[in-house]
Amino acid sequence: MLIDISERKRAEEIAQEFASIVECCDDAVLSKDLNGIIKTWNKGAERLFGYTAEETIGRPVTMLIPADRQNEEPGILERLRRGERIDHYETVRRRKDGSLIDISLTVSPVKNGAGHTIGASKIARDITERKRAQEHIALLAREVDHRSKNLLALVQATVHLTKGDTAQELKAAIEGRIQALANAHSLLSQSRWAGADLRGMVMEELAPYCHDAEPRVHITGPSLALEPNTAQSMAVAVHELTTNAVKYGALSVPTGHVHVEWSCAVDGAFTFRWSETGGPSVAAPQHRGFGTRVLERLVRGPLNGDVRYDWRAEGLVCEITAPELPRPGSDGSEQEWAIAPTSD
Ligand SMILES: Nc1ncnc2c1ncn2[C@@H]1O[C@H](COP(=O)(O)OP(=O)(O)OP(=O)(O)O)[C@@H](O)[C@H]1O
Ligand SMILES: [Mg+2]
Repeated sequence: MLIDISERKRAEEIAQEFASIVECCDDAVLSKDLNGIIKTWNKGAERLFGYTAEETIGRPVTMLIPADRQNEEPGILERLRRGERIDHYETVRRRKDGSLIDISLTVSPVKNGAGHTIGASKIARDITERKRAQEHIALLAREVDHRSKNLLALVQATVHLTKGDTAQELKAAIEGRIQALANAHSLLSQSRWAGADLRGMVMEELAPYCHDAEPRVHITGPSLALEPNTAQSMAVAVHELTTNAVKYGALSVPTGHVHVEWSCAVDGAFTFRWSETGGPSVAAPQHRGFGTRVLERLVRGPLNGDVRYDWRAEGLVCEITAPELPRPGSDGSEQEWAIAPTSD
């Protein structure tokens, strides 16, 4: 008696093919019965969870579920018994080494020949990277939101507090101040908001005075990356010192010189020294305008530092100190820019 088994052979081949596809696919593929007992476990599952098939088959799938999520499984089994499919359910599971992992889970009922649900297949995909990227994007969005609020607050205060005898003068003063912020902003965005280099910032602000035959500006200091808030504070500070030097100080005459030097100690203590020589004779001023006030507020506020003006006859020496310069990457986003107009 000869029986044609080609169809059965064909079906076996297909089943074999399916099995090897499952075995070597990247995702974790496992199956369980309706009591939640693991039936099959592919290499992807071994890679993702760290257990071999021998260590899991016959054991409850709850072995993969962290204590605070044990209530998930009864819900999944309930839905399965109703023949439901669970798509891309984002959850957390625990590996053999105890570490937790973010996964996307798809659970589909497995039916027998009579169409009864006898178990489920589970496909789990590691979404750690995606979660991290999402969190990073959310953080960046919060940060951008915060920075733009800060920047707008600063621009608003700048426009509000800037004075000028003529509309032209007022416009020039406002433009100069916003340009200083814009310079800091482009330095920061060049570094993907990692930080802005202090030297680059000082050079940019003093560039117009660096090209003379005999340089009038001398800049010495280590390369120092400033975190965004500090960068914007220092950009404004250097701008105000520069415009003042141009209006009243060493850069108001061809013979004047400005020395800018800074240092940052291992403990983070920061000193920035601006000293002018060769300009008109200087005396302590009677009034404080936007420049000196904003500088004090920004240094005493976000930098938690101090500003010391030494009005020497031969030229102003302004020293900015901060006990510990916030480092790029340190979360300084909480610092608010409050530059409310004061009585004087
Ligand atoms: N480098 C300097 N050399 C000599 N005098 C200075 C210098 N910087 C500031 N001053 C004096 O200090 C005063 C206050 O400076 P501040 O920057 O606060 O105001 P302003 O420059 O006059 O006006 P604003 O900054 O609001 O445009 C100036 O009016 C000036 O008399
Ligand atoms: Mg000024």
